[in-house]
Amino acid sequence: MSSNKLNWSRRSTFILAAAGSAIGLGNLWKFPYMAGENGGGAFVLVYLLCILIIGLPIMMSESLIGRRSHSDAMTAIGKAAADSNGSKNWQAIASIGFVCVFLLFSFYSVIAGWALDYTVGFALGDFFGKNQDEVEGLFDALLASPARLIGWHTVFTIMTAVIIMGGARKGIEKAIAVMMPLLIIILFGMLVFSATQTGKFMEGVHFLFNWSPEKLKDPSVVISALGHAFFSLSLGMCAIMTYASYMQDDIPITQSAAWVTVLDTLIALAAGLVIFPIVFAHGMAAGSGPGLLFVTLSTAFADGGSLGTVLGVVFFFLVSIAALSSSISIVEPVVRWTIERFDVSRKAATVSYCGLTWLLGLATVFSFNIWSDVHLLGGEKTPFDLIDYLVSNILLPLGGLFIALFTGWVVSKNVSREQLPELSDALFHLWHFMIKFVAPVAILLVFYSVIAE
Ligand code: TRP
Repeated sequence: MSSNKLNWSRRSTFILAAAGSAIGLGNLWKFPYMAGENGGGAFVLVYLLCILIIGLPIMMSESLIGRRSHSDAMTAIGKAAADSNGSKNWQAIASIGFVCVFLLFSFYSVIAGWALDYTVGFALGDFFGKNQDEVEGLFDALLASPARLIGWHTVFTIMTAVIIMGGARKGIEKAIAVMMPLLIIILFGMLVFSATQTGKFMEGVHFLFNWSPEKLKDPSVVISALGHAFFSLSLGMCAIMTYASYMQDDIPITQSAAWVTVLDTLIALAAGLVIFPIVFAHGMAAGSGPGLLFVTLSTAFADGGSLGTVLGVVFFFLVSIAALSSSISIVEPVVRWTIERFDVSRKAATVSYCGLTWLLGLATVFSFNIWSDVHLLGGEKTPFDLIDYLVSNILLPLGGLFIALFTGWVVSKNVSREQLPELSDALFHLWHFMIKFVAPVAILLVFYSVIAE
């Protein structure tokens, strides 16, 4: 159905859209706090390795499968299988992705709601002149209020739904084209601030890049890093596959995937380099968890007079936009598939799915207040922790494993080769080797190490 097509109007749009999908809360909010909780350098090293040897090859696989069929993910996998004389059952991979959509979007929207709340809070001057304890108090007050969290969660869900539903796509394409560069500029400006004003820049650098191999023995660090590589690159649930299905045939997939990967990684590292010097300068705890971004940066902004307030508004607004450009890519694949499969309207599909994830999102909302003592499965995890763990550390790597196995073992080399003409023979074989052996073995090893623990 041509009406479902995202009109990628320019050649660069795939990179922009895929980068918009990849760059989001994962880079700005999640990466720093995970690095903090997992001891810094050890986590970062494994994360970078996962990006390079697993993430990039799988991003190329998802892209080529999506691009060659120009259709929804389920159909795309089916076609690649059929053209390679493989079984259609591989389409089940897309089902894993579709399960992820609901879980992932349910908490994504709640956290994005925090950023919306902060944008407004800074605009109203709530943070002006506040000291660190007061800033922490404001964050705790937000988490303690289910009504406020639900309000912003609702606003964010509606924003996502409206964009997915309507012709606003041209709008988002334009918005991303402006916002993403702006985000990069602001982040860079803050990097300069961290480097020159905190006096603790080198401590931050040391924390992030101090590769202490002894910490690698802890399998939980490794699985978190692997899971986060998938999360951050938007891999494992056919989101990139769906975006690539809108890509023109003559665009080199390798370069596009490499650009997206590099940009995504740089932005995560930049966020870490902005945040940790501030953490150390204020004597905060690196491992303080999901509040890290919101408490550290707000403390620095609150300290910065009127300029700090303006920067606070702009920064959290950009975080919200980055989250929005990611959230549409979370929901779009399943919406697109539903429309093509069941011939329902885009509006009906969007409203039903967003309604469902909104409801599920309440579990995350309550995890920070009335259910904060609810620890499921006898562990220490709140419902939010559990949903995040299930998606990031299990389902996304599992989806990625199947995509790698499918491309490496089922899809014929000729079929892949046609989509990757830019590669020399040697590089093509390298990619194929990575996707056939290295990526699956690495993912299986990580799973095994966690199970064997
Ligand atoms: N990559 C996004 C982020 O870092 C999140 C995201 C968007 C995502 N679409 C996805 C994660 C698809 C996994 C799959 O915030």
